[in-house]
Amino acid sequence: MENQKSKIKNQQSLIKFVGIIGSGTMGAGIAQVAATAGCSVKLYDTKTEALDKAKADLEKIMARLIEKGKIDSTEKERIQNNIKYVSSLKELKDSDLTIEAIVENLDIKKNVFSTLEKFVSDDCIIASNTSSLSIASIASSLQKPERCIGIHFFNPAPLMKLVEVIPAIQTSEETLNISVKTIKDWGKTVAVAKDTPGFIVNRVARPFYGEALRIYEEGIATFAEIDSAMKEIGGFRMGPFELMDFIGNDVNYTVTETVFEAFYCDPRYKPSFTQKRFSEAGYLGRKSGKGYYNYSENGEMSVRAQSRTNGGEKVSDKAIFERILVMLINEAADALFWNIASAEDIDNAMTKGVNYPKGLLAWANEKGIDWCVEKMDELYDEYHEDRYRCSPLLRKMNLENKNFF
Ligand code: NAI
Repeated sequence: MENQKSKIKNQQSLIKFVGIIGSGTMGAGIAQVAATAGCSVKLYDTKTEALDKAKADLEKIMARLIEKGKIDSTEKERIQNNIKYVSSLKELKDSDLTIEAIVENLDIKKNVFSTLEKFVSDDCIIASNTSSLSIASIASSLQKPERCIGIHFFNPAPLMKLVEVIPAIQTSEETLNISVKTIKDWGKTVAVAKDTPGFIVNRVARPFYGEALRIYEEGIATFAEIDSAMKEIGGFRMGPFELMDFIGNDVNYTVTETVFEAFYCDPRYKPSFTQKRFSEAGYLGRKSGKGYYNYSENGEMSVRAQSRTNGGEKVSDKAIFERILVMLINEAADALFWNIASAEDIDNAMTKGVNYPKGLLAWANEKGIDWCVEKMDELYDEYHEDRYRCSPLLRKMNLENKNFF
């Protein structure tokens, strides 16, 4: 019977009933995505206030979409009727797929997963939206770990195109295939990533923040000068400091620290004292009105009076941009070297998950692989730090005169 049910599901690859655990920022957004795609969604949270807030927020989002002419009132009702707000985990028993988006704590997640498994059917896929925990460790809490997978959305889930899908070593082929198909059916771009710290985006993006902070700490440019170089020359929508203020310095610092520790303190991912101090001071960014910039009540950003800490000449915009870019390219190439994901998925992840103007590997082709190797070697020669080691893949490709793709 179970086999038959699973075959039917496979043929149609249809996930109809979706359970979402945690109705915070991410859970509510994922519920909206699944409901819009036509799934029948149950959104569960332990706090009724969180459920009420999710419901009220969706009402506001729907009203805005109507105002913009993106949906009509029939569509609004269809989406809203597709979501039921529930306060008992047991209510998720009919789910074909559950996605957990609760607090980022391994023990709490494991506990919820093992309880949930008692209620759902044998072929229900149990996924986690975790950003930083290992899927293998979460899966180990289940009797049937082969049904567990990472399905990592980006914030805000309804707007961001990218979803990273992360099979653990326990995950079955069937779980992976159904998950990928479902997320694509929901209109998203899937990048399949290895179960390693930061998956794709939170690993490859680290130098965008880390190298910018380092350039600032060396005293050769201010926050605003670095941001301006990345926007004007690189075409990034936001500069690193603007983006860290937007994400929140506390959140961004924690991700950096987690990735650094998870990589056994690889100096490439070393967190910065500047960001730590900003977090400690409560200069969290937009949400606290003060970060690398100041923010007025209505959210307007202004540059804080700041001079270069070395008191000297600013390094050129081009030099700032190229240093950060080559570190990003090196990180992307290294992710490919370690088989974290395919070249296509690595480039898609950065353009669709964090809105980079170009895929980093495509950018490497454009600049020339020889240029990338030279730039990395220049940095290494200057600092003699392991942080600036060139990826073996870039070096090999340069020797063989090859390009990505
Ligand atoms: P949040 O704090 O906005 O929401 C978490 C919700 O889970 C709260 O409503 C809370 O009441 C509920 N909750 C806590 N423990 C629970 C339990 N045992 N059972 C049921 N509900 C419980 O958190 P957010 O930002 O939505 O993050 C959720 C997950 O998504 C985390 O694992 C996070 O790492 C991940 N994530 C967050 C992103 C972000 O930008 N905020 C992006 C991608 C992933």
